[in-house]
Amino acid sequence: MKYIIGNWKMNQNAKIIDNFIKSFKKNKVNNVKFGLAVPYVYIEKIKKKLGKTCLVGAENCSEYSSGAYTGEVSAEMLADFNIDFCLVGHSERRTIFAETDEQINEKIKQLIKNKITPLFCIGETLKEYENKETKKVIKKQIEKGLKGINASELNNLIIAYEPVWAIGTGKTADAKTINNITEYIKNLLLKMYGENSKSIKVLYGGSVNSENASNLLTDLVDGALVGGASLNAEKFINIGRNV
Ligand code: 13P
Repeated sequence: MKYIIGNWKMNQNAKIIDNFIKSFKKNKVNNVKFGLAVPYVYIEKIKKKLGKTCLVGAENCSEYSSGAYTGEVSAEMLADFNIDFCLVGHSERRTIFAETDEQINEKIKQLIKNKITPLFCIGETLKEYENKETKKVIKKQIEKGLKGINASELNNLIIAYEPVWAIGTGKTADAKTINNITEYIKNLLLKMYGENSKSIKVLYGGSVNSENASNLLTDLVDGALVGGASLNAEKFINIGRNV
C-alpha cells in the first residue's frame, strides 16, 4: 500500500479548505493511505472532518519542549490534537529558515518523546546533485538527524527523499534514480537499525502529480510527499488512483 501525503505549506484558507473537504470526502480509493500536513491553525478542523479517512499532520514543530519561545509550537501541544505525523527538516525550513541537522535532530527527539511519527525530509541541492554528492549528503542528513535515536524509538518513522531541485520546479528525479536512492536509504537504515528498520517507510517528493506518480513510485518506494498537487482535492485523489 502506498502512502500519498500532501504538504500544503503556507497555502489554502478556510473557504478553500471547506471545498477541499467536500470533494475529498466524496472520493474513495482503495489500497492508498492518504495524509495531509497542514498549517497549525487548520489541524483541528482537518482532523475533525477528515481524520477518519486521512492521516493528519503538522508541517513543523519546535526543537524545545516549552518556555519563552514566542511563536513556537511544541510537539507536546501537537500531541494534544492527536496528530498522526509531523514533517521535520523540510528543505524550505533548512534553506529559508536556516535549520541545521542538529535542530532537526532535536525536533525528531521531541516528536518521539510525544509519540508522534516524524516525517523526516532529506535531499540534495542542485549543486550537490551536479557534483554527484547525493548519497554523501543524504547519509550525513540521516546520520545527524537520527543521532542518539535507537531502534526501539523509531515510532513508525517515515523518511521522504526530496531532491531540492525537484521541489516546485516541475522537474522530477527519474524513476531509476528514485529507486536507487530509496534502496541506498533502506540499506543505510538496515545498517543503523537492523531488522527494526524495515518498518521505516521511504517516500519520494518533488513535483509529483497524477500523471507521473505511477512511473516514479516503483515497488521499493513506499509513496509520495506532494506539494502543489495536494492543494486541490481532485488532483490529490487522482495521484492515489493512479499509483
Ligand atoms: P511539489 O510537489 O510542489 O514539488 O513540492 C514537494 C514538496 O516540497 C513536498 O514536501
